[in-house]
Amino acid sequence: MNRTNVIMVTALLALGMLLSGSNARAQEPPKMPYVFEMYCFMCHKEGVQIGPTGIFDMVSKSGNPLHEQYIRNNTRFGYNAMPAFRLSEVSPKELDAIVAYLKEVAAYRKANPGYKPAPTPAVAATGRGKK
Ligand code: HEC
Repeated sequence: MNRTNVIMVTALLALGMLLSGSNARAQEPPKMPYVFEMYCFMCHKEGVQIGPTGIFDMVSKSGNPLHEQYIRNNTRFGYNAMPAFRLSEVSPKELDAIVAYLKEVAAYRKANPGYKPAPTPAVAATGRGKK
């Protein structure tokens, strides 16, 4: 590839990311992964706040940006009152989904400051939990 091509491809990629990112974020709130609802939300919930709710803004309780690896470490190894989660409880894929979700929620809350994270109604609509 010559230099002009490299620049063009890079520009197109950047444009694509920009467009898809802003589209996904501008509209409906991100869907809360079921595993997050099951294992995280009961503590990290406004009104409960056993765990910090800054995670929904990707900000740690120290005021620093929450790093993705920190979320992963906390989940796998626990942290003070926060329990550790085994691979059989939160799979690597599910942990990826949690990290992606927290990033999406933070972006969504920037655009919609009043938004409170909530379990996705679609989960109920699948019939899970119904008799
Ligand atoms: C039993 C309650 C509980 C559950 C369940 C729980 N947490 Fe926590 N979490 C905590 C507490 C308490 C802290 C703060 C620990 C401290 O700072 O001493 C914390 C801290 C964190 C932090 C660091 C926040 C910061 O401000 O530094 C992250 C990230 C986090 N939890 C993510 C998760 C994820 C992801 C899950 C689900 C897999 C989860 N937590 C489940 C209680 C919980």
